Amino acid sequence: MPATYKRTLVTSALPYANGPVHIGHLAGCYLPSDIFVRYKRSKGEDVIFICGSDEHGVPITIKAKKEGVSPQDVVDKYHKMMGDAFKGFGISFDIYSRTSNKVHHETASDFFKTLYDKHVFTEEITEQYYDTEAKQFLADRYITGTCPKCSNPNAYGDQCEKCGSTLSATDLINPQSTLSGSKPVLKETKNWFLPLDKLQPKIQSYLDQHKDWKTNVYGQCKSWLDSGEGLQPRAMTRDLNWGVPVPVKGAEGKVLYVWFDAPIGYISATKELKPDTWELYWKDKSTRLIHFIGKDNIVFHCIIFPSMLMEHGDYILPDNVPANEFLNLEGDKISTSRNWAVWLHEYLIDFKDKQDVLRYTLCSNAPETKDNDFTWADFQTKNNSELVAILGNFVNRTLVLTHKYYNGSVPAPETYTKEDLLILEQLASFPDKIASAIEQFKFREALAEMMNLARLGNKYLAETEPWKLIKSDEIRVKTIMNIALQITCNLAVVCEPFLPFTSQKLFGMLNMPLLKWHSAKQTSNMAAGHQINKEELLFAKIEDPEIQLQIDKLAQSKSVNTATVIPPSKPETSFDEFSKMDIRTGTILEAERVPKTDKLLKLKIDTGIDTRTVVSGIAEWYKPEEIIGQQVSILVNLAPRKIKGIESRGMILMAANSQGELSFVSATKPAFNNGSEVK
Ligand code: MF3
Ligand code: ZN
Repeated sequence: MPATYKRTLVTSALPYANGPVHIGHLAGCYLPSDIFVRYKRSKGEDVIFICGSDEHGVPITIKAKKEGVSPQDVVDKYHKMMGDAFKGFGISFDIYSRTSNKVHHETASDFFKTLYDKHVFTEEITEQYYDTEAKQFLADRYITGTCPKCSNPNAYGDQCEKCGSTLSATDLINPQSTLSGSKPVLKETKNWFLPLDKLQPKIQSYLDQHKDWKTNVYGQCKSWLDSGEGLQPRAMTRDLNWGVPVPVKGAEGKVLYVWFDAPIGYISATKELKPDTWELYWKDKSTRLIHFIGKDNIVFHCIIFPSMLMEHGDYILPDNVPANEFLNLEGDKISTSRNWAVWLHEYLIDFKDKQDVLRYTLCSNAPETKDNDFTWADFQTKNNSELVAILGNFVNRTLVLTHKYYNGSVPAPETYTKEDLLILEQLASFPDKIASAIEQFKFREALAEMMNLARLGNKYLAETEPWKLIKSDEIRVKTIMNIALQITCNLAVVCEPFLPFTSQKLFGMLNMPLLKWHSAKQTSNMAAGHQINKEELLFAKIEDPEIQLQIDKLAQSKSVNTATVIPPSKPETSFDEFSKMDIRTGTILEAERVPKTDKLLKLKIDTGIDTRTVVSGIAEWYKPEEIIGQQVSILVNLAPRKIKGIESRGMILMAANSQGELSFVSATKPAFNNGSEVK
């Protein structure tokens, strides 16, 4: 970070306009960035907050095909939906743009042209996968297969979401077209590559200057650079028809790679927002550029986009990329296709006017350093035991008493006791504590500090007991209530980044203008004699039935998922074919994990015929110690195979549900003799 910077440009990852947004999006990227920006605004700094929809790329065309509409229809629909949801939660973008805009097409096109003219790209004819049925090249998410790095069977042609590696479609093991399900063929085509291999030293020295990045981010970057083969050239164009056309001769029918055009969307959106001064934000060295993203976007923002910016030459580079890890939901990975999510547009209907409750829960549980879990039970507790019982309670008591004793007019303080002075001193110290955590992107810590201020207030009231003292010492109570009101007012200031709706309500009740951050270092914002408004409830208790409704909704997704996705029957087979399979019952005698794999167990099985070793991909679902003694069906005449250096003889039969989870198909009746035939 430059020692002094004049302005901050904050971006939030442009979400793909191929579906609604859920709590994972909010927690990972949009909420932290919003808190950061609101805080900067409150401090009076020059900051702009950029976002928009990512409307290109294969995720969009796949969705269009699924819904039987055009890609433009898809992006129009979800662009509006996502924009509304963000707004509903008070995510205060200065602009929510979109990459199908004309400005964006021009900006991305010009950017490519500049790199092209500077001979940055290498032009290469390579073999790419092609779907002969769909008559189309397969890139990115049009192709899936097994990740060569971590064996995840559902890796995409450009990326494995499990281990975070960037891939090329040709790296995948057992590639499959997601269009037709067929096995793709290789076909020659010309594309333009960013030679990341040659740029590696530059990127290395750029990263070396940013050892201050979050450890999860810096560590991931480092491991790419240090990995055996280092960075690899990466195609920046695709043989697709949805996207920004490649602006050079001989590139008809090709578009820019979505990860080339999308980050340029940050620039286009800034142009749109500030047609006259956008260059200050992107080209002036005293601007600080910060990208908020989820962890699956790290390589693109920390390596590829900076390389593009460096090679272009006119632009500043990202100064920080505070990426979050993932948020799970009730112990399971959030999944759009399985409808395992809490959708923001649905929450806004189910929990009207409770946006801050979700903001609070997500921030206090944010996956800042590791994946984290959202549960409805925790949501309820956070609301009832923290927002209602601590923050709401303190504010309510203070305002009710002020009305009761003084008809809502702020009492003048009389003499401060030693305890009072201590409280005032502590009160004044909060803004800096909270600020320092926010500046370090430690939003959970910042939020906890904010709540500590409400705790301080509660403790002060509990110790001084003005409701008792009022009978014996009215003068003393004036001082106490004045201090409680100062705390309330400062809470309204420092809670604003986290709980903007609550903050606004609070200022309304206090009948005060929205005060800025520095005011919260004062302890006399509420002048004696100032008339406050009637109190309203800040937070209401959330009862069990409301929570149960949400849990039931999720349970429904789960049963729908398991019930509906039944794979179609395979082509007919003959009895003869089938009888070639020698399937027996056997018993697992020993089981151990295969080192350095997540999925594999090495089993020793008594097949009745012999005792043999079988390597089986069930480690995600069964612990070795659980399955000793388990009876299994085993195909005994399968040709032996070497898996991770172990000879596996035979295959145990498992049932898979639609999520690919495996379980034993076993008899509950009396056990069989090992070696019994399964026919
Ligand atoms: N659309 C991408 C995603 O949802 C994020 C794009 S971020 C940008 O994962 F930098 F490209 F804009
Ligand atoms: Zn992987």
